[in-house]
Amino acid sequence: MESALITGGAGFIGSNLALELERRHPDIRVTIIDDFRSGEFSNLVGFRGDLVAQDLASLDLLSRFRLGEFQVVFHLASITDTTVTDARQMIWDNVEGFRRVAEFARLSGTPLIYASSAAVYGVCHLGRMQEDQPACPANVYGFSKTLLENLARRYADSSRDCRIVGLRYFNVYGPGEAHKGVAASMIYQLARQIRAGRRPRIFKYGEQARDFVYVKDVVEATLLAADANHGGVYNVGSGRPTSFNEVIALLNKALETDHNPDYFDNPYPFYQPHTEADVTRARAELGYASKYPIDRGIAEYVKQLMETDMKQPDVHEQ
Ligand SMILES: NC(=O)c1ccc[n+]([C@@H]2O[C@H](COP(=O)([O-])OP(=O)(O)OC[C@H]3O[C@@H](n4cnc5c(N)ncnc54)[C@H](O)[C@@H]3O)[C@@H](O)[C@H]2O)c1
Repeated sequence: MESALITGGAGFIGSNLALELERRHPDIRVTIIDDFRSGEFSNLVGFRGDLVAQDLASLDLLSRFRLGEFQVVFHLASITDTTVTDARQMIWDNVEGFRRVAEFARLSGTPLIYASSAAVYGVCHLGRMQEDQPACPANVYGFSKTLLENLARRYADSSRDCRIVGLRYFNVYGPGEAHKGVAASMIYQLARQIRAGRRPRIFKYGEQARDFVYVKDVVEATLLAADANHGGVYNVGSGRPTSFNEVIALLNKALETDHNPDYFDNPYPFYQPHTEADVTRARAELGYASKYPIDRGIAEYVKQLMETDMKQPDVHEQ
């Protein structure tokens, strides 16, 4: 690969992707578009490419870049705080940004890989989540991702040359997420509480489960999607749910602590009790296989967290 455009490249997943691309392809020209609304420059220390700090929803990509300038476009820019309830802002920023990127990719015949989310499943589907289940978003963030998928389908249907791959990331955790504050993974939040010497706080009684997926697996799946010769929508998870109680046990082990959970009442009526990705399609069509089961991912992540100072403000949300 010689060139790539990454939107949202100063964010958690985007920065991991940018640095991994440069590691694998020393001569690659990576360009990032990120307006730093939730990005963090320190995620990109060591980055050798270019960065355009502009809002994608109002950026004229066609006058800024040449058609065909990039071999692949990765679209990760998004409002990622799922507690944002302003529908106009969420949909304008997320959908209009994507529309511009998709149009640019279509006109230049460039493959487009974009971040969707497990949030499109909402609270309707219990058990394993499969790509063919109807979208049922429970918040406007998930709804905006559903609109991205609808738009992608429309572009793909309108032109055979248009290769668009949507990746429904599940609960991603790992190095580079600290700047997200309340939107960072529960693994990060709980590790931080334990490291501060406090009992980790979770909703009663900790049996709710999430498909936590390590950021290195997510980057791998994203790069595999760029290599695939077809489009579609794929779940990207570990394929295994882990309860919050299990997460705390694994964190205690990795941190060599022994903190019992501090359970409190769940105030949310529409809280997802369980997420679990069926990764059959990603395995068969992208060749994706998670290399980081939760114990390996947490052990590696905790090691990294111990090496860096956790400077983010304290948060308890899940
Ligand atoms: N982290 C997860 O668990 C998870 C799960 C499902 C889906 N996703 C999706 O993956 C992608 C990356 O998420 P992340 O966790 O790295 O979040 P992040 O907030 O760290 O990264 C998003 C980046 O996009 C940038 N951005 C947002 N809107 C922009 C705009 N209009 N113009 C320019 N830049 C803009 C932000 O400044 C930020 O750097 C997002 O699309 C997100 O919805 C993430």
